[in-house]
Amino acid sequence: MQEKISQYTSEINSFQPKNNDELEAFRIRFLGTKGIIKDLFEAFKTVSAEEKRILGKVLNEFKQMAEAKYQILKESLETVEKSADSELDLTLPGEGFELGARHPLSLVRKEIIEIFKKLGFNVAEGPEIEDDWHNFSALNFPEEHPARDMQDTFFIRLSPDPSPGGEGSTNGKGEAIALRTHTSSVQVRMMEAGKPPFRAIMPGRVYRNEAISARAHCFFHQVEGLYIDENVSFADLKQTLFHFVQELFGAGTKVRFRPSYFPFTEPSAEMDISCSICKGDGCQFCKYSGWVEILGCGMVDPNVLENCNIDSKKFTGYAFGMGIERITNLKYQIKDLRLFSENDIRFLKQFQSEMI
Ligand code: PHE
Repeated sequence: MQEKISQYTSEINSFQPKNNDELEAFRIRFLGTKGIIKDLFEAFKTVSAEEKRILGKVLNEFKQMAEAKYQILKESLETVEKSADSELDLTLPGEGFELGARHPLSLVRKEIIEIFKKLGFNVAEGPEIEDDWHNFSALNFPEEHPARDMQDTFFIRLSPDPSPGGEGSTNGKGEAIALRTHTSSVQVRMMEAGKPPFRAIMPGRVYRNEAISARAHCFFHQVEGLYIDENVSFADLKQTLFHFVQELFGAGTKVRFRPSYFPFTEPSAEMDISCSICKGDGCQFCKYSGWVEILGCGMVDPNVLENCNIDSKKFTGYAFGMGIERITNLKYQIKDLRLFSENDIRFLKQFQSEMI
């Protein structure tokens, strides 16, 4: 009997039905009321008690195996049938997936980077959480400068301080840590880490404690630039920025520089361009002046160079910084800054044709 069972076992193992009829025949042959298993159990009754002890287990396992095999085969035939039944129409158009669009800020950032890359500028990045040295002190901000004030800067507290308006946390050197308020901090890191000449731009996100409105946000994006070498002059700065706006806003864009103040540059200026929307005739965007301010710039203050261990007698340099949101607003006539961070697909989709 054992021999028979092992023969049947290998028969069952290799059985592969092509259709339901074959499977049904299998069921009748092994599991049916007059099937092999039934017969085997009949024959089992007649064997000696000695044999029963061994055979009982073998027979039961054989029966379970046959039933399990039947169940598996049945299920697999059903799934095959189901997919054959569902009217598969290969001529139907596929279910396309929607292509996203690049964010307008990414598009403009890319454009800015491309222009400066052609002029030999590298791209540098740095941390968004900064210490006081890199964000302020090294950049010649006096101790009492209002930009250090809680009004403008998001200081970071690592552990909660229960006192009202409690102290912010500090880094290992006792300096306050904060979300960077500009990417000038990357300039400091770059100058500290290397030797001049430097020629790089620093794109990145920056944070300021401002109430969110159509014209202000608590975070925005900047691209700053730095060029340090021997004999770099304000004329180099003007020429570079002039070329930049011709590329970005089109040939014929006018520029003008107004004296300004930044702690880290001397002299400092703000640069306006002729309004790219009304071409200088006057519109709401330029408040009917024909000009819009797009960046701050100047010659790197010798104190900053010395703070970064650069010989200010030998090297000079210029720096500039612009907000990507502002330039994007101008290029695409976007009037509300909040649109950039709401991720409304209807807004973002309008830039689809600009895919690069
Ligand atoms: N860091 C300045 C800002 O955030 C911009 C700037 C950069 C101005 C470099 C001058 C030179 O407003």
